[in-house]
Amino acid sequence: MKKVAIVGLGHIGSAIATVLSLKSKTIYGIDNNTKHIENLNNFQCPFQEPYLKNALISQIKKKKILCSNDFSSVSKSQVIINTVGTPIQNNKVNLSYLYSSMQKISKYVKKNSLIIIKSTVPPNTTQEIYNKFFKRKKVLLCFSPERIAEGNMIKEFKKLPIIIGGIDKKSADTAESFFKKHLKVKIIKTNNSTEAELIKLFDNLWIDLNISLGNEVGKICNNLNVNALDVIKAANTLKKGSSYVNILTPSVGVGGYCLTKDPWFLSEFAKKINLEMHTPKISRKINESMPKFLFSIFKNKIQELKYKNINILILGYSFKSNTGDTRFTPVEKFINLIRKEKFVNQLFISDPLVKTSDILSKFSKTNFKNFKEILKKRNKYDVIFFMNGHHEFKKNLNKIMKKINRKGLIVDGRYYFSKEQIKRIKKSYSFLGVGW
Ligand SMILES: NC(=O)c1ccc[n+]([C@@H]2O[C@H](COP(=O)([O-])OP(=O)(O)OC[C@H]3O[C@@H](n4cnc5c(N)ncnc54)[C@H](O)[C@@H]3O)[C@@H](O)[C@H]2O)c1
Repeated sequence: MKKVAIVGLGHIGSAIATVLSLKSKTIYGIDNNTKHIENLNNFQCPFQEPYLKNALISQIKKKKILCSNDFSSVSKSQVIINTVGTPIQNNKVNLSYLYSSMQKISKYVKKNSLIIIKSTVPPNTTQEIYNKFFKRKKVLLCFSPERIAEGNMIKEFKKLPIIIGGIDKKSADTAESFFKKHLKVKIIKTNNSTEAELIKLFDNLWIDLNISLGNEVGKICNNLNVNALDVIKAANTLKKGSSYVNILTPSVGVGGYCLTKDPWFLSEFAKKINLEMHTPKISRKINESMPKFLFSIFKNKIQELKYKNINILILGYSFKSNTGDTRFTPVEKFINLIRKEKFVNQLFISDPLVKTSDILSKFSKTNFKNFKEILKKRNKYDVIFFMNGHHEFKKNLNKIMKKINRKGLIVDGRYYFSKEQIKRIKKSYSFLGVGW
């Protein structure tokens, strides 16, 4: 059985390490964040992700995953999977983490070992890394895009097809047999690593664009007072080519670590080859406009209802449902737009999956409310926002509904109340949503 090193034990690396450790002898988890490694070795997992926390910690306790910041274990590993961050700064890709980790890997990697890049990268990066660090080393190198989505990572990792783009045939074949041993999923080998890099970027551009389309449907429907979800559901029954129209759902906006940056990787790369790509700019612009759009329709509603001095509860601060990840959450932008409005008396934010420190690093202590306390205490609110649809909110919906004042307002930012639920809500309260 091959020994595996995972470099970068963040959201993606820790999920991959957890699943692979079930069928590997030892996983060496390497991360340069010493505090993070210390926490993991003290059995503290910072990620709120279904099925991850307990499984990861249990594998660390069993010493199936050994966490450290020492790269020397790369020399004991036949497979090295790199999942370090590839952020953007001012819409420009920053590959410094990837390059510095690859430099360290190149110091320790043994002949014939397989390196798999999972971090999202611009086209040709794998080839450039090969030329810079590994050409003379006789190692195998692949790009295998990670396409799992937060909120459902463990399940998706076990069933999504895996794309493999090797630097050569031997690299791709070795990666194929490695993944086949661990996962029962379809494997798609591309002709080269650049194709695999493009697949990841176009997948994410497709998602961002189709959400932006959904958001524009939402804007129009809101104005016309028709239900966007109904329009989208029916529109999506049209067969086109080998699939169906698939407009995604409108919301307070797109956040997270991938969709907010990956479209820029493409437009930046296009510029380098003297092409202008318009779609990434358009999808990003529309999706970034959504907190402001929700703010504008909310303000109109407040005027219509003649509300003054209201107490607001924002439920859901993470960037999407069922994750505690707050990176680039559109909810932050939205709160910053309303918090200084004169009609606001008190504003509280609560999210059972988000670390308290993530909220306190952006807002004051007086803004924070513990979700369990909300359910226990007698406090009532004039407006409750559902900014995502965590299972925890769905499970406690009846209790939450008792927290709203008579004639109060419910706002759906991403919960996706059904038509029947909205009908019931409207009997006692006012209701507002992005597109319904
Ligand atoms: N988060 C997602 O949903 C998702 C989905 C698919 C693909 N991706 C891609 O996967 C990659 C990782 O994303 P993430 O969300 O896990 O990021 P993350 O920030 O949660 O994790 C990255 C980890 O890499 C570590 N790191 C950075 N530089 C290092 C170095 N030189 N040596 C060792 N460790 C180092 C960091 O300390 C961090 O723990 C990115 O390229 C991202 O675009 C992410």
